[in-house]
Amino acid sequence: MTKKCGLLKNDSEAALLNNRICVLKVFYIIGISSVFACIIFIYYQDNLKVENAIWESGSYFSSHPKSTHLLPFKTQNDFHAPSTDLSSEACGLPVKDDTVIKLNNQHTYVIGSYMEHRYIEKEIKTIAIVLRSEEVNYVCVMCCQGENVTSQAEYVIHRDHFEFDYGTATISCPIESSCLNPTHVALTTSDLSSTIDSFQPIRNREPPSVFPVNFTICISTMYDYKDVLNLVESMEMFRILGAQKVAIYRTNCNPDVQKILDYYVKQNFVDIIPWTISDHIEVSSGWRKAESQGQLHYYGQIPALNDCVYRYMYQSRYLALQDMDEVILPFADKTWTSLLPKLEEFYGDSVGFEFENNIFPFKQRACREYDISKWKHVKGTNILNYIHRLPNVPNEFNNYKIIVNPRLVVKPTVHGILEGIYDDSLTVRVHPNVARMYHWKPFGFPSDTQLILDDHLWDYANDLVPAVSRVLQECGFFDR
Ligand SMILES: *[C@@H]1O[C@H](CO)[C@@H](O)[C@H](O)[C@H]1NC(C)=O
Ligand SMILES: *[C@@H]1O[C@H](CO)[C@@H](O)[C@H](O)[C@H]1NC(C)=O
Repeated sequence: MTKKCGLLKNDSEAALLNNRICVLKVFYIIGISSVFACIIFIYYQDNLKVENAIWESGSYFSSHPKSTHLLPFKTQNDFHAPSTDLSSEACGLPVKDDTVIKLNNQHTYVIGSYMEHRYIEKEIKTIAIVLRSEEVNYVCVMCCQGENVTSQAEYVIHRDHFEFDYGTATISCPIESSCLNPTHVALTTSDLSSTIDSFQPIRNREPPSVFPVNFTICISTMYDYKDVLNLVESMEMFRILGAQKVAIYRTNCNPDVQKILDYYVKQNFVDIIPWTISDHIEVSSGWRKAESQGQLHYYGQIPALNDCVYRYMYQSRYLALQDMDEVILPFADKTWTSLLPKLEEFYGDSVGFEFENNIFPFKQRACREYDISKWKHVKGTNILNYIHRLPNVPNEFNNYKIIVNPRLVVKPTVHGILEGIYDDSLTVRVHPNVARMYHWKPFGFPSDTQLILDDHLWDYANDLVPAVSRVLQECGFFDR
């Protein structure tokens, strides 16, 4: 078969030479590493005995400061019936279910409020965006069986603010005996001049007995988005991999993209969460304060991810925290559905999983293997045409995104977890030969870079291409 793409001629010669050197290297590495493996095996056996002894003596949790207030993990069956109360009035005030609510007289934007069940002392956690320089004495007003109950709140600003003026905060309201089952909450300040004029529903009040879906993807912030083809390809890949829900924190997109989103919302595959923080403060298009202006890191990606973790905590067995131009592909397995049980069997079920980022730059020569004629007039990038990736430098830090059981997470961040219920670092790196992340984007690189041919996405093409065509057709992008 003559492929319509491939490495340039001298690229392939270089690759051949590389291969020879590689074989030699592999030979040596195998030798050395078997010696090491032996030593490590013996060492590990000893350590395992120590760990087991600690477990059996019951001292494991007491040596874990964070775990002391932790409830034993609830099984799914401990939970009962419905959750959020979405009626339009509470304690005589209107209920606002908006994702971004400005607090009167403060530079505080409330995103969502959730019941925290995982510690012995229950509390309400509110995810918010706050001006870091402003110190606020928050007060919680809870609606409890028709009565207002007030208590003092505490808050922490997450440390992943990247020096921007605004940061993510978790505001906690303790649940007290005077009000054990609040349905709504509003924040105000101890300053008497600020009163409340609406309530927000408390979500996750009574988690469902069965998780409605196994895999949800949190897409934090869709901003000025217009890549129709990439969007549909990603969504169909997510579905093939096993995702049953995609949550999109949407600021804006063009009408063609909206058409696609409407289609998926109607299918109950996509939830759109309106992300209007840019109406209030200037969001940055970058992640470094020194390089891009604005008051909040990267369109507010971090508060969106934090909200997503709590919003879907009991709606989904696992969450993937990633972007629309990223796809996590396993190798031996075809789907996440079969991969995740294996990872949990190997690493245990109290960790999240890191998948290494691999960049497929659009700057390279596009390959035309999958130029589908019907897609010709659809705007956007066909990721099937980009199969050369930049090499990741071994032994250097390679970025990643995670798939995690959300009930393990206290504070997620862009790459991984800032705080988990057991520990601060709560994720393990999945070997890139087991699964890795494919990330398509315009990206500059030195001209002498040896790109690596990696067409693993094509292994899905037989399912992907007809699925994408069907969606484009049903959305009216072409005739039969
Ligand atoms: C709760 O407090 C708000 C604001 O102070 C007030 O408008 C409302 O009437 C109160 N509701 C009840 C049931 O007391
Ligand atoms: C989730 O996965 C489990 C185990 O693989 C399966 O039994 C269950 O039906 C799945 N749930 C959904 C909603 O697909």
